[in-house]
Amino acid sequence: MKKDLLSIADLNRKEIEGLIEKARRTKKEVPMPLLSGRTLALLFEKPSLRTRVSFEMAMYQLGGHSIYLSPEEVGVGKREAVADVAQVLSRYVDAIAARTFSQETLRILAGHSSVPVINALSDLEHPCQALSDLLTIYEKKGKLAGLTLAFIGDGNNVANSLFLCACLVGMNFHFASPRGYEIKNGVLSKGRKFAALSGSRIQLTNDPYKAAKGADVIYTDVWVSMGQEMEAKKRRRAFSGYQVDDKLLSLAKKDVLFMHPLPAHHGEEISVGLLDDPRSAVFDEAENRLHLQKTLLVRLLSNPKVSGR
Ligand code: CP
Ligand code: NVA
Repeated sequence: MKKDLLSIADLNRKEIEGLIEKARRTKKEVPMPLLSGRTLALLFEKPSLRTRVSFEMAMYQLGGHSIYLSPEEVGVGKREAVADVAQVLSRYVDAIAARTFSQETLRILAGHSSVPVINALSDLEHPCQALSDLLTIYEKKGKLAGLTLAFIGDGNNVANSLFLCACLVGMNFHFASPRGYEIKNGVLSKGRKFAALSGSRIQLTNDPYKAAKGADVIYTDVWVSMGQEMEAKKRRRAFSGYQVDDKLLSLAKKDVLFMHPLPAHHGEEISVGLLDDPRSAVFDEAENRLHLQKTLLVRLLSNPKVSGR
């Protein structure tokens, strides 16, 4: 049966740890043409640098091929119904990585396609980012369980996937946002269930300094995500006390890692120059998108495709 990755919750702890361990090992090896003759469609409703290039390079290095489909040319749900796009693409390609506004679009794509569908970012989650981030933390710290990640900022797609991932693997998760920008209840309750099994401790607060205290990793993301441009003014006001800077980092452990999925807004959610600080892991994080996604693609495409129906 085909396996999709629409949410971190589609994976269990063993699968996450397996992906991370495998990616850590294979990134040091010369890539094998494991996906020779296979094609990935990149169906994007929003702009991208890292996700598009890392998926395209992943397929290229594995001997496969990718086709980028921009928002304008397909018009998912506008020019053509999502379900029809899914059925048509399934007849041509071996997998679909889709970047969408709504999670519902991903669910319809997955429900109507006979090939694996990967969430390449939706308004709800960014699972490929979270998995790559955990690979980066594992490489730098040598473990995951028992570490504390403090997310300072918006309860957005990136925060949701990181939260679920941390709760699955036994990392403690501190979260600080202004009122009204917390992680939503549906995601919280899933994470709490995972945490009860893994032993993760969860701290939710509106105080960024409290969240940063004793953290192994300080993580932030943009205050205005793609699609929220109309709320930009209001959001910048709400988040003004939530910038990650030297003062905040000084409350964390001495060997703290600073992380951000990028793109970043210098002088907004981070102080100017922070990306190049010795504590920053952001460019390793960006590189690891490639390594993690190569492992993921090999896992999801390991079954040969059956043509037609
Ligand atoms: N981090 C990330 O997903 O970047 P892009 O939006 O550039 O793909
Ligand atoms: N939260 C950001 C992440 C970009 C990688 C967005 O959705 O725009």
